[in-house]
Amino acid sequence: MANKEQRIRVAVQKNGRLTDHSIDLLERCGLKFTRSKDRLFCFGENMPIDLLLVRDDDIPGLVSDDVCDLGIVGQNVVEEKRLQREAEGRDALFDKVYDLNFGHCRLSLAAPEERPFEGPESLEGVRIATSYVGVLRDYLDRNNITADIEYFSGAVEIAPRLGKADYICDLVSTGGTLKANGLREVATLLESEAIIIQTRAPLAADKQALVDKILQRLDGVLQVRESKYIMLHAPRSALNEIRDLLPGTEAPTVVPLDGADDRVAVHAVCRENVFWETLENLKAAGASSLLVLPVEKMLA
Ligand code: PRP
Ligand code: ZN
Repeated sequence: MANKEQRIRVAVQKNGRLTDHSIDLLERCGLKFTRSKDRLFCFGENMPIDLLLVRDDDIPGLVSDDVCDLGIVGQNVVEEKRLQREAEGRDALFDKVYDLNFGHCRLSLAAPEERPFEGPESLEGVRIATSYVGVLRDYLDRNNITADIEYFSGAVEIAPRLGKADYICDLVSTGGTLKANGLREVATLLESEAIIIQTRAPLAADKQALVDKILQRLDGVLQVRESKYIMLHAPRSALNEIRDLLPGTEAPTVVPLDGADDRVAVHAVCRENVFWETLENLKAAGASSLLVLPVEKMLA
C-alpha cells in the first residue's frame, strides 16, 4: 500500500471552463476518481494519483511550490504568474509538458464601441482595467506606452460603464461577454489553451516513474483524438500516389487482395484528421471501399 508521500497530486480548476475537460482527460488515461463531499478533492481509486480542485490562478503556485506534482491550467494564467514572479525577481519553478488542445481563448484589449483605436499609441495615458497586470504591463512596456493599470479581480467588463476605465484587458472565448457589455476587441495580447505543467522539484524515483507513465498515457490520448485508422482498396499502380495523399502516416500496411493480382488493400493510421476532401482525392487516385475508423488507444 503506497503511503501518502508516494501519491501524485494533480491540481485542476475547481469550477470553470477547464474543469470537466481536465477530469475527462485524466479519466481517459485510465484513472478512476471518487470526489470528496466538499468536492475539493478527488481520490484516485485505481492508481495513487489524486486531484486537488482549486482556483485556476492558484495552480501555477501550487505546482511551483511542489504542493502538487502536476497541474492542468490555461496558458494565460501560467504566463501571468510567470511575469508576476519575474517582476518579484523569482523564477517560475514549473515546466510545460503538453498543450492539451482545449480551453482555447485569448487575452485581448477591448474598448467601448464608440472609442477609436489606432494601435498601441491610442493607449497612452488611458486607464485600463484588468486581472492580468503582468501580461498587460509587459505589452505596454514593449510598446513604450505609459498607461494606468486598474486591477480588478473579476467583472472587468463592467469597468468602462462604471467610469473606472477607458479600456479593459480580459479573456475572450466566444466574445459573448464583450458583446453583452458594448465592448469590441481591439488587440490580442496572448493566445491561450489548456496546458499541463510539471513541478521542477526532483521526485523520488518511484514517483517519477508514475508521473512518466501518466504523461505517456496522456500523450497517447492526445494523439488518438486526432488520429484515424483508414482502410481502402487500390490498384497496385496507384500505390505511390495514394501513399502521398494519406495525411500524417508512416509506413502503411499493404495486403494483397484474394483473386486480384493488380489490386491491394491499404491500412494506415493517420495522425491527423481525415477530411472529406482527402477521401475524394484518394478516390480520384483510384481508391475504392474507403473506410475511416476512430482510434481507441495508442501506445508509441
Ligand atoms: C472569462 C472572462 C470573461 C469571459 C469571456 O472569465 O473574464 O468574463 O470568460 O468569455 P466569453 O468570450 O466566452 O464570453 P472566466 O470564465 O474564464 O473566469 P476567470 O477569469 O474568473 O477564471
Ligand atoms: Zn480564474
